[in-house]
Amino acid sequence: MTDTTTSFKDRRVLVTGASTGIGAATARMFGAAGACVGVHYRQAREGAEAVAASIREAGGQAHVMAGDLQDGAVRRTLVSDFVRASGGIDVLVNNAGACYGYAHFTELDEDSWDHTLALNAKAPFFLSREAFLDMTLRGWGRIINISSVSQKYGGPRSLHYSASKAALDALTVGLAREGAQYNILVNSIRCGLIETGMHRRVDGYSDELFQKRLDKVLLKRAGSPDDIARMALFLAGESGNFITGEIFTVAGGD
Ligand SMILES: NC(=O)c1ccc[n+]([C@@H]2O[C@H](COP(=O)([O-])OP(=O)(O)OC[C@H]3O[C@@H](n4cnc5c(N)ncnc54)[C@H](OP(=O)(O)O)[C@@H]3O)[C@@H](O)[C@H]2O)c1
Repeated sequence: MTDTTTSFKDRRVLVTGASTGIGAATARMFGAAGACVGVHYRQAREGAEAVAASIREAGGQAHVMAGDLQDGAVRRTLVSDFVRASGGIDVLVNNAGACYGYAHFTELDEDSWDHTLALNAKAPFFLSREAFLDMTLRGWGRIINISSVSQKYGGPRSLHYSASKAALDALTVGLAREGAQYNILVNSIRCGLIETGMHRRVDGYSDELFQKRLDKVLLKRAGSPDDIARMALFLAGESGNFITGEIFTVAGGD
């Protein structure tokens, strides 16, 4: 399933938004490589339970954790809850994300802006801050932020989403500078078009628009969630030991 050579046997990995899509694939792959995985979800409990069950079937350990990251209390306590359940946190994957409202910027309402920024940028900031507290104790940590190529296009119907991912990448650079002294390495994976349910849930989705988007991709296909998961394991494993503050595009040439 994974081509990484690293065993994550003694690593505790929290993946946000792991009930489906990229987060689920990442959680499964870390689990298959031996990690104890925090499988976080907001509402898709069944999905998260299925991911956790597959990790346990493979002989790994999994903790299912619920929480809406729009909620400040959840942003402040999710990491410490995971630390209490698993004994620490070695890897944090800030994956949970969405685009609230998909409207031309002249019509975008403030709630869509606020919710998108809160989930995609504010939540990773507070989760990372909490993770730092535990990671500095052992002088080892990896934080991986799941970003997007959308900021390259800045489409007029998702400017707020693009801005939130640009903010996330700015956090990557700043936290990497601060984390270096503690061997906490922070990187972004800037995803291209990945085949998950995300696009179909956006207002105004059509097969035609999806195809137009695909036409911009050099490989002429969408990536799979596993394509992103493999990159996350690469960065969190030994291959990533000398990589920090970087933003990696995994987008089939998009
Ligand atoms: N798919 C792509 O083409 C693509 C491209 C670029 C970047 N990305 C980024 O990749 C990440 C994962 O995307 P995906 O395609 O795998 O999306 P997805 O299939 O829609 O999964 C999103 C995950 O985030 C969770 N989530 C959503 N809102 C939340 C909230 N308010 N609080 C806590 N968790 C919440 C969902 O949990 P529940 O289902 O339990 O609610 C779900 O587990 C996102 O950050 C996205 O921006 C995706």
